[in-house]
Amino acid sequence: MAMKWKKWALATSVLAVSAIAQAAPPSAAMLSNACAGCHGTNGGSAGPSMPSLASQSKTAIVDAMKKFKSGERPSTVMGRLAKGYSDAEIEAMGDYFSKQKFHATSQAVDAAKVKKGSDLQEANCSRCHLDDGKDGKDDTPVMASQWLPYLQMQMELYQSGKRKMPEKMAEKVKPLSKEDIDALLHFYASVK
Ligand code: HEC
Ligand code: HEC
Repeated sequence: MAMKWKKWALATSVLAVSAIAQAAPPSAAMLSNACAGCHGTNGGSAGPSMPSLASQSKTAIVDAMKKFKSGERPSTVMGRLAKGYSDAEIEAMGDYFSKQKFHATSQAVDAAKVKKGSDLQEANCSRCHLDDGKDGKDDTPVMASQWLPYLQMQMELYQSGKRKMPEKMAEKVKPLSKEDIDALLHFYASVK
């Protein structure tokens, strides 16, 4: 009798546990907690080597995560991290961060470079990096207020060929001088 009771209790508790697991998959906000140490609780970057995710398009975030996961986009930490998430989890986090408010940073920038960069952005990059880089067309990431060291690192990866530049972007970037690119990145960093 005692044995039977035990078996029944065990069977029902297993059922209860699996019912809970099915009823409550981790929410997007819970998943995104794992990103907060570096990308901030609301997607606002916690430091100069890390981008803000807040207000980026879902497509831009999901695309970046998939490229980190496959190794197509080089990284210091994201490749390793991205491998721990399923496509559904990546979609959920992309959706979550895309709904967070734009994050403005305050950083030291060179005023003359910012002015020059503003003109260059309008003429060369504004087709995809919309609204002074505050918005991005489809898979284009937000550039406004990203940390200058982060932007410089990504531009170096592109120009060294380690990160693949979109073809239409390469057409615009290639003819520019080192000084032009520097001015552009100062401009993006300054936008609030
Ligand atoms: C330990 C710090 C750290 C953690 C934790 C972290 N990231 Fe990152 N993230 C970075 C860094 C640094 C980069 C720049 C690429 C690189 O060097 O890895 C980055 C880049 C990104 C980018 C590219 C954004 C752009 O503008 O191109 C996305 C998207 C991203 N992370 C998503 C996430 C998500 C989602 C999580 C949580 C699952 C997460 N990250 C957790 C440090 C981190
Ligand atoms: C045809 C559209 C297009 C044009 C024009 C364009 N870009 Fe981009 N840019 C993109 C896309 C799409 C990405 C993300 C692609 C990827 O996964 O590498 C990107 C990413 C970037 C990044 C990396 C940001 C990050 O968070 O990872 C920098 C820096 C950048 N662009 C600078 C520029 C500059 C400077 C210009 C003008 C000289 C420019 N882009 C013109 C589409 C464009």
